[in-house]
Amino acid sequence: MASLGHDVVGVDVDPGKVARLAAGTAPFYEPGLPELLAEVGDTGRLTFSTDMADAAGARVHFLCVGTPQQHGEFRADLSYVESAFEALVPHLAPGDVVAGKSTVPVGTAEDLARRLVGTGVTLVWNPEFLREGFAVQDTLHPDRLVYGLPSEEGVPTPEGDAARALLDEVYATPLAEGTPLVVTDYATAQLVKVAANSFLATKISFINAMAELCEATGADVTRLADAIGYDARIGRRFLNAGLGFGGGCLPKDIRAFMARAGELGVDQALSFLREVDAINMRRRVRVVDLVREVSAGSIVGRRIAVLGAAFKPDSDDVRDSPALSVAAQMQLQGAQVTVTDPQAVENARAKWPDIKFASSAQEAVQQADVVVLATEWAEYRALDPAELGDLVARRAIVDGRNVLDPAAWRAAGWTYRALGRP
Ligand code: UDX
Repeated sequence: MASLGHDVVGVDVDPGKVARLAAGTAPFYEPGLPELLAEVGDTGRLTFSTDMADAAGARVHFLCVGTPQQHGEFRADLSYVESAFEALVPHLAPGDVVAGKSTVPVGTAEDLARRLVGTGVTLVWNPEFLREGFAVQDTLHPDRLVYGLPSEEGVPTPEGDAARALLDEVYATPLAEGTPLVVTDYATAQLVKVAANSFLATKISFINAMAELCEATGADVTRLADAIGYDARIGRRFLNAGLGFGGGCLPKDIRAFMARAGELGVDQALSFLREVDAINMRRRVRVVDLVREVSAGSIVGRRIAVLGAAFKPDSDDVRDSPALSVAAQMQLQGAQVTVTDPQAVENARAKWPDIKFASSAQEAVQQADVVVLATEWAEYRALDPAELGDLVARRAIVDGRNVLDPAAWRAAGWTYRALGRP
């Protein structure tokens, strides 16, 4: 927002994060963000604070807090949304706009809007679609913008129209670039986000289900994905079979969506998402089984190198990471696991202190009986099978992301196994 020309104050309850950001350092790994922080730091348009009172005077207030899965339930935990909103309200002035970005169960916006009645403040729902690893690009050049406005019978109220004009100012640059804008009501705007993530999760689980068929028949799921992907109605993106989806969004969003559908009495509409979730979780077990198969039936005492800890490349996020889940399962089953990752080792160690961590692939694979590629960082895709072969005890690799060339690895004397590939 500051780089788009606005004056911005970022408020967070975590003094550590605020201090790092105020010093111009990103508190997590995200390509392009350090450069962007340096660029806007020089303009003086971006400040950080732990004091909500510093939000007073702003015309637009973005609510961007997390909505993780509730412990022991499928439902979303709305306590951060609640506390941020409650803390903000005393500092709002008539004419202000509160723009919700958090991924919430449909109905949350309506509830928050009711609590603003009589204050002259308007709530809009403006879901966020950025991907980790592409956050800067996705924020500055979004593929679409969605405004959920207060409306009556599908028509925005006068307050809704005024809020829309303010958001148009905020997003003037991407709008001038031709970014598509969908203006709608609260319910639709909230549903757009969970519908999008459910579709993406379904696409991944669909191809992973095909991988199970491929394994039963000797077919190759990567060629199958290429072939069906040429149909523009299907498309090749998000059809990469392998260890499946993780992270702080897709898994908890499909579960929260199912929980909300249940509350609304339409749980049947989303019962397929249970299957999407189950297919996804089976992938992790399948990778451990493949490691066992290439280890002559037992992983007890085996040295296993896991390449990747982050839930996806170009991120240091280990929330619900398939890579770390596989590493931990093998460790708990008696293997000696060494995990490496270009960025996520620190976060991974905080979660699983008992696992051994290495600072490079070369160090991690020393004397390994099996190597598992679990997160497809570019540097792992580019590994040389002959060079790596000199470091391991046995040349056996399980490609959990279907990104290596099986012929090249086999030619270098490796036993190569993957999900859904012969
Ligand atoms: C997702 C949505 O893409 C984004 O629009 C939303 O705002 C937040 O949630 P993100 O969590 O950053 O973004 O990750 P994404 O790129 O969607 O990947 C999710 C998971 O799916 C990763 O674990 C990734 O490895 C996996 N994946 C992705 C596959 O297994 N196969 C694929 O073909 C694509």
